Amino acid sequence: MSPTTAGPSTPPAAVLCGLAGWVPSRVVTNEHLARRLDTDDTWIRTRTGIRQRHVVDPGQATSDLAVEAGRRALAAAAANGTDRVDAVVVATTTPDRTCPATAPSVAARLGLAGAAAFDIGAVCTGFVYGLASAAGLIAAGVAGRVLLIGADTYSTIVDPLDRANAIIFGDGAGAVVLRAGHPGEPGAVGHFDLGSDGAHEALITVAAGGSRQRSRPGEPSHQDRHFAMRGQEVYRHAVTRMAESARATLSRAGWKTDDVDHFVPHQANLRILHSVADDLGLPRERCVTHVESVGNTGAASIPLALADAAARQTVRPGDRLLLTAFGGGLTWGSCLLTWPSLPHQERTTP
Ligand code: UT7
Repeated sequence: MSPTTAGPSTPPAAVLCGLAGWVPSRVVTNEHLARRLDTDDTWIRTRTGIRQRHVVDPGQATSDLAVEAGRRALAAAAANGTDRVDAVVVATTTPDRTCPATAPSVAARLGLAGAAAFDIGAVCTGFVYGLASAAGLIAAGVAGRVLLIGADTYSTIVDPLDRANAIIFGDGAGAVVLRAGHPGEPGAVGHFDLGSDGAHEALITVAAGGSRQRSRPGEPSHQDRHFAMRGQEVYRHAVTRMAESARATLSRAGWKTDDVDHFVPHQANLRILHSVADDLGLPRERCVTHVESVGNTGAASIPLALADAAARQTVRPGDRLLLTAFGGGLTWGSCLLTWPSLPHQERTTP
């Protein structure tokens, strides 16, 4: 490990130097869903903004997506001068197994056995918590370069006949490589705001599979094995918490709303993203959206949206970004970054 120091008294910052997204090839459109669920394309598009989502094939697991995104992000970082990492962090709600964590196997499959590797469980806020953790590892001198992957396969935990949730979620992975650098340089991530409120844990749950509800013969029930969400309540919390968190971050950095060129929220639902932008007084066109093509991809949603925006060249070097996420727990978090110069990005979705 050889962290770059930023100066005698300033700890190094985490600087973005590689980015990639990856989604499985199988596309499920709203029309596909309407064939098996009591729903229709108009309802889904007007309530969520989603047109289609990508889902894994049987046998494909979260680590398979994480490896694909991770490999591409590492290649992008290598083209940018960073060719190895000291730590691999995987943010996910859908690990391959309850035990062990998914990150060590992802690291080994990427040829990174020996690197520190661990998972982050902060549901849809996992990527922002992961950025903060990676920044902490770098600031403390524990790692000089970190591969952070947000990866989720919600199709493996959502009941395919649950029309309220099956329409929202998609599978995917997004990855970034962060290296030690200077807090003021383009790509530096900072001014974090992280929070949680476990009093509302029941709003988003998978009841069984952990130590609270142990398996006994014949259990758990079909319902307890699957993802459950109280959508309307979650919606209200999402708008309030994301707007509060975004404001806290802007205030820490001394930025005004108008300083934000691109708002990159967790891609939960287009209406939520627009409500948060409205609440912040940000024009909706500054809101980076990718939800229409991939649905809500959990911890993957922010890096996938970033990769898509980079590929479309809607974000350019020097642009100022505000990232804000919200998820089960409840958890929320935000941070800022000034867009660096990165190698050309391939589109993940057409
Ligand atoms: O990533 C973590 C954070 N997650 C989120 O942020 C998701 C937050 N919640 C949401 O995005 C929205 O609450 C949903 C998209 C889940 C639901 O939209 P909504 O506008 O809150 O709908 P609703 O739950 O209030 O349901 C309205 C009606 C209900 O019928 P009635 O009771 O009015 O007759 C539902 O049964 O729509 C019905 N409905 C549907 N109809 C057609 C629910 N799902 C569907 C569906 N197709 N897929």
